Amino acid sequence: MPLFPSLRFNMRFRQESWLAALLCLLSMGGEVWCNCTAQNIEIAGGNYKLTKELLTGSTLIYNCPEGYFPYPALVRICQANGAWKPRPKTYLPQKCKLVECPDPNVLENGNVSPPQEKYFVDNETTYECYSGYRMRGSPKRVCLPNGKWSGSTTICSHDAGDDCADPGIPAGASRAGNMFGIDDKVTYSCNSNLFLVGSSERVCQENGQWTGMEPECYYKHTYDTSVEISQAFGSAIKNTLTKEEPLDGSPEGRKLRISKEGTLNIYIAVDVSASIEDKYISNTTSVIKKLIQKISSFTVSPNYEIVFFSSEIEEVVNILDFWEKKDVRKDILEKLDTFGINDRSSTGTDLNLVFFTFWERMSFIKTRVGANAFKDHRHVIILFTDGAYNMGGSPAPTLARIKDMVYMNQTGEKEVNSREEYLDVYVFAIGAETFDDDLKSFTVGKAEEKHFFKVKGIDKMYDAFDDIIDENDVKGLCGLHKEFQKTDDNEKRRKMHPWGAFISIRNPNNNHKNCLGSLISKEFVLTAAHCFIFENLPEHVTVDFFEKVRNLQVKKIFLHPKYNINAKVNEGVKEFYDYDVALILLKDPIDISVTVRPICIPCTKETNTALKLGADSTCKDQEQTLLKNHLERLSFLTKIDLNKLYEKTVSAKIGDNRDECISYALRAKGITTNNPKDAVTDNFLCTGGQQPFRDHIARKGDSGGAVFKSYESRTIQVALVSWGTEEVVAASPDERYESTPTSRDFHINLFRVIPFLKSILANNTDDYSPMEFLQN
Ligand SMILES: *[C@@H]1O[C@H](CO)[C@@H](O)[C@H](O)[C@H]1NC(C)=O
Ligand SMILES: *[C@@H]1O[C@H](CO)[C@@H](O)[C@H](O)[C@H]1NC(C)=O
Ligand SMILES: *[C@@H]1O[C@H](CO)[C@@H](O)[C@H](O)[C@H]1NC(C)=O
Ligand SMILES: *[C@@H]1O[C@H](CO)[C@@H](O)[C@H](O)[C@H]1NC(C)=O
Ligand SMILES: *[C@@H]1O[C@H](CO)[C@@H](O)[C@H](O)[C@H]1NC(C)=O
Repeated sequence: MPLFPSLRFNMRFRQESWLAALLCLLSMGGEVWCNCTAQNIEIAGGNYKLTKELLTGSTLIYNCPEGYFPYPALVRICQANGAWKPRPKTYLPQKCKLVECPDPNVLENGNVSPPQEKYFVDNETTYECYSGYRMRGSPKRVCLPNGKWSGSTTICSHDAGDDCADPGIPAGASRAGNMFGIDDKVTYSCNSNLFLVGSSERVCQENGQWTGMEPECYYKHTYDTSVEISQAFGSAIKNTLTKEEPLDGSPEGRKLRISKEGTLNIYIAVDVSASIEDKYISNTTSVIKKLIQKISSFTVSPNYEIVFFSSEIEEVVNILDFWEKKDVRKDILEKLDTFGINDRSSTGTDLNLVFFTFWERMSFIKTRVGANAFKDHRHVIILFTDGAYNMGGSPAPTLARIKDMVYMNQTGEKEVNSREEYLDVYVFAIGAETFDDDLKSFTVGKAEEKHFFKVKGIDKMYDAFDDIIDENDVKGLCGLHKEFQKTDDNEKRRKMHPWGAFISIRNPNNNHKNCLGSLISKEFVLTAAHCFIFENLPEHVTVDFFEKVRNLQVKKIFLHPKYNINAKVNEGVKEFYDYDVALILLKDPIDISVTVRPICIPCTKETNTALKLGADSTCKDQEQTLLKNHLERLSFLTKIDLNKLYEKTVSAKIGDNRDECISYALRAKGITTNNPKDAVTDNFLCTGGQQPFRDHIARKGDSGGAVFKSYESRTIQVALVSWGTEEVVAASPDERYESTPTSRDFHINLFRVIPFLKSILANNTDDYSPMEFLQN
């Protein structure tokens, strides 16, 4: 029988298949299996493939051009009785339907135009907020071929001074909960036909951030692009891989780690059951090889378990070999190359067996290394499957056992949270038809990180993994830091603020001046322009970071071209600090480590990733994320005796609160104008005072230091310490950082000096590698 019958032969087929069906019915009692027919299975506007021709167990897979999806069925299976499941229906002919995007009209406090009942691929929408409401997210969005809207969720919100920003309502969703104070909860659900990926529940935390990640509503035809996968999976796996860094960051520590078995265990399982296409296997092998290659660019050496599975497990690499034999790592790629699937006749898929095998391996490792050492082992399970398991039952109970083992039977929320980073289960839903709800329930890991992915084709995974950046770039990943409880241990504090730089300037009269700065790339330190005087040459300046990284030479100093301290002497401002920003180019690029690492700065692509904003989010989106509240809690560093940095907190007075705050500038020495705005232009953030929070006040030597906001694992600098109204004097060392009612500090808002930063940092010169800024 021809595989792809043309319409011309249809009549004949109809008769034949009718006969066959009758024969089939007659022999149902015996061993005879019946073939399916090609009748009515064509798809208008697309084509189809059969995995095993028209034999029992064959899967019919429909394919449509980009921007379309097969409807009503995505696949059909040939059953033993010779009938397709689902059966083709003449009154609902199979066709390629235009991709639809979820309903954007869920927007609150604004208008979506044009208003339509349904939105299809390439349809454009524009958004407007009612007066009195401010817009965040994209003002214009286009429905993309993957079933998602371009840009980010549009939100129209009041500035009500809430602790957390209005989290909005993603297209196709509805939200319960309209209070955005600390500990307030919002819950989401997706409208019918859609299922929710991300957090269905989010809680406003003290740091002004919502827990978890923004939910998205997926149709069956929605999928993640390779760029989305690379960003989300890449940043999650990088977090795991960089956490594996030896704690002391020393080269010695690194060597030690390599000579021993690693403590990162990666388990990869690939579904090769008949429900998945043939070429998938060689393609999957190249995808896994790519992933392993990427991981090996980091200084970690994980142990691997790699299996292909259907009703049985075919093991490519056994993780226990890492304890039994030598040099397994070297052989992995070769093993993948030569691996072939012996028997693909099976139509069963036993997902539970996969989890059970992994559970067994973990138990063995635990016995082998001892329960105590096992506590430090991280486990990452990566699963590629369509989720159509039909044997072995649900893997949920086995997964629960794995969790128990890694979480050490802890059930309290706090205890589980503290063990969460030791287990990640990523699921890549792949195949013509995937069982998304089920698969989603098998993901495990931090709610802030995406663990469920819907993949259009395995080749997309290759691109996605290929785009994950290498360790050399990751080491420079901005804003990464470690979190510790309040501590006096200088090294620990250093790891919390690894960007902190100490700048010493030797003036011609041999007077020394000290400032702080922040490392923002391998080559650049950001600081205040007023730290320098006109006569300063690069050789007068040195930069220190931490113990062994000190006394660094400087190649060049760039002051903001508009910085001019004397600009307003005649207008009653003796010292004018507008544009008080400078960049120091180091003579040699710095070796990035856990104790010396750059901070993120606004309007760069990396900061979009650090803030988990979409790739096409703008500079403005970043500003509205970082400086959204009328009182924004920020931190700065203060230097306490020899090169020790302590974190202090302030609240920036923004919006309606700003005028009152800057009015105190008139009390500063050397200011005789009546208009505070003469001295404090829009380029400054204002902090200090005791209402509603008692702020800390910076001291002289803190000039040039970063004013920043820290999230769980990343830190972003939003401003730099410039000048203040008073030097606070107090009895005790602790008290001297507390603001008086009238003391105010002014910090250069980095969002206002982006053109300057860009002109230098984004320049493609031979001296240093350029930084990627956002277009707008
Ligand atoms: C099914 O098709 C195969 C090959 O196309 C053929 O050998 C077999 O006899 C057919 N079975 C029935 C019951 O028609
Ligand atoms: C939306 O897309 C559909 C299908 O392509 C098209 O018919 C319709 O005109 C589009 N609507 C607008 C407003 O562009
Ligand atoms: C996937 O398989 C096809 C056919 O075997 C091959 O042409 C293609 O190069 C493969 N892609 C990758 C990324 O391995
Ligand atoms: C967890 O509980 C199981 C069953 O109750 C027990 O066998 C196991 O030893 C416990 N594990 C730990 C780490 O306490
Ligand atoms: C950066 O590049 C621009 C355009 O090429 C040039 O005008 C500018 O002078 C450069 N800036 C520096 C600091 O080299």
